[in-house]
Amino acid sequence: MNSLKKKYKQNVKKPQKSILGILQLLSMNKRHTPLAEWGRMYVDFDVASSILDIGFGGGENLKVASKLAPKAKLFGIDYSVASVQIATKKNRKLVNNGRLTLTEGSVEQMPYENDSFDLVTAYETIYFWNIEKGFKEVYRVLKEDGTFAIINEAKSEVGMEEHIEAIGFRVYTEEEIRETLTRIGFREITAHSHENGNWLTVTAKK
Ligand SMILES: C[S@@+](CC[C@H](N)C(=O)[O-])C[C@H]1O[C@@H](n2cnc3c(N)ncnc32)[C@H](O)[C@@H]1O
Repeated sequence: MNSLKKKYKQNVKKPQKSILGILQLLSMNKRHTPLAEWGRMYVDFDVASSILDIGFGGGENLKVASKLAPKAKLFGIDYSVASVQIATKKNRKLVNNGRLTLTEGSVEQMPYENDSFDLVTAYETIYFWNIEKGFKEVYRVLKEDGTFAIINEAKSEVGMEEHIEAIGFRVYTEEEIRETLTRIGFREITAHSHENGNWLTVTAKK
């Protein structure tokens, strides 16, 4: 992998305020759409009145959430300043009319009250988290009976060695995700695997 390609790839982890970071954010909005559409089939958006998307990247999934849950208040948190900027542009109307609030911050310490959200989504992002700390925070900010939805395009590190080495991340298996969620207190943990053998959606309730 040449060094430009490596730098571009590294921007999936924490997009930088640079040409490569912005290109990566715009590209992820398109590239992750088939996965996100598939994963959302297993998630009830219409019953949610408050939704948080963690690691929102370019912000496409928040735009879709605004249509699937037209009355919901929407929130997004991402530790990349570039993500906040690009997602704000993408969702300008929602931000301006006060329906969407985007915040720069980490999943490990979120600036929300306990029991705030009906639905928390995490698309293509838990690879970069300390899931023990991140899932605990998700549990804290979810309302009782609220749902946590994890949507991943990879469920095993096999064959991913070059990417893992270049970017630095973890692919958590279904078992690791289940085990961590269970330990923290989540219930009704349900996993769906795509027929392509890679994609994984896990939902769990507080
Ligand atoms: C691969 S991108 C996915 C973006 C978007 N969810 C999508 O599906 O297109 C991962 C995003 O998660 C964010 N992220 C990674 N670790 C994070 C953390 N610990 N706290 C908050 N955001 C994080 C990154 O900044 C990046 O925007």
